[in-house]
Amino acid sequence: VTAEKAGFDHFMLKEIYEQPKAYRDTMGARLNDEGTRVVLPELKMTEDDIRAIRNIHIVACGTAYHAGLVGKSVIEKLARIPVETDVASEYRYRSPIIGKDTLVIVVSQSGETADTLAALREAQRCGARVLAITNVVGSSVAREADDVITTWAGPEIAVASTKAYTSQLIAFYLLGIYMAQVLGTQEDAAVAELLTAMQALPGQVEAILEQSEVLKAFAESIAKHDNLFFIGRGLDYAVAVEGSLKLKEISYIHSEAYAAGELKHGTLALIEEGIPVIALATQEELFEKTASNIKEVKARGAHVLGVVNEDELDLRKSVDEIFAIPKTMALLAPALAVVPLQLLSYYASLARGNDVDKPRNLAKSVTVE
Ligand code: G6P
Repeated sequence: VTAEKAGFDHFMLKEIYEQPKAYRDTMGARLNDEGTRVVLPELKMTEDDIRAIRNIHIVACGTAYHAGLVGKSVIEKLARIPVETDVASEYRYRSPIIGKDTLVIVVSQSGETADTLAALREAQRCGARVLAITNVVGSSVAREADDVITTWAGPEIAVASTKAYTSQLIAFYLLGIYMAQVLGTQEDAAVAELLTAMQALPGQVEAILEQSEVLKAFAESIAKHDNLFFIGRGLDYAVAVEGSLKLKEISYIHSEAYAAGELKHGTLALIEEGIPVIALATQEELFEKTASNIKEVKARGAHVLGVVNEDELDLRKSVDEIFAIPKTMALLAPALAVVPLQLLSYYASLARGNDVDKPRNLAKSVTVE
């Protein structure tokens, strides 16, 4: 067992540390030799098929759903196609408007989640083309989908998903860029710039992992609390939702992720002296707005950890603790910002003496609806 964990105490930690490799493997052969264009030879979908897409539905469960929240922004921004992201167990029952010009993207690490598989079948029944993003070659989802983009994260054992999620983000970046190339919605130079930044991500994750000790102390302090909040705007909000789920799954600490600007419409009432707030501020455009939300919670006594870009360290004055992530393009920041949140959950779970890899009540793959 120790050997399988390659010297790590838990599969989760091992899998967190495998992320740089997972990023490289998932990008792998999907860039041209110059690294300036995305190639997806595995797609059966033709360029004409892509041009015919009017809308996209992303459907998934749990952490894969959270990757889909990022995927929505990525595809809309790059390819300018309208995207909705749904939880699979809700999707089928809301009479979604699915047509032949709808592309349904199902996201599933295992490829066996019953709700996701049922949504895939329903989408096909309605005439939609289904593209699967999955980590398991030959899984049910992979077999039944019309197209598959495999995430090459390697086997994920810990119940709390880490490297599968970040590899799903990479898959969405590749798909969004590929669609933009076909549709001509981005300049060649912009695509090349994005791909250069993407290729820097594995090394940047390594730099984050080297600072993991910084998060240990904060994790130990939050382990004493029963409630906390994650806040962020835009893509930071999508990452906050995943950070909050991770913490709930393995530390059993209740937490809520809030779109930072929405706090003042109710949730701010819950902020009291000493409550931990994890604030994400990686999106330049939204930076000042998020900074003012941080001041709102600070003024009410919150103890704030800021997860911010390394060049926005001005924020140091307004937060109690800071974790700086290396500079990348705003669209790619989720692939970095989630890593400290994974580590925080891991260390909080350890501090509480929980079974990190096998949290109570949860299963790695849920094959019942
Ligand atoms: C279970 C796992 C989650 C996972 C979800 C979806 O609930 O505990 O970690 O995100 O299923 O799994 P999938 O294999 O479809 O990505």
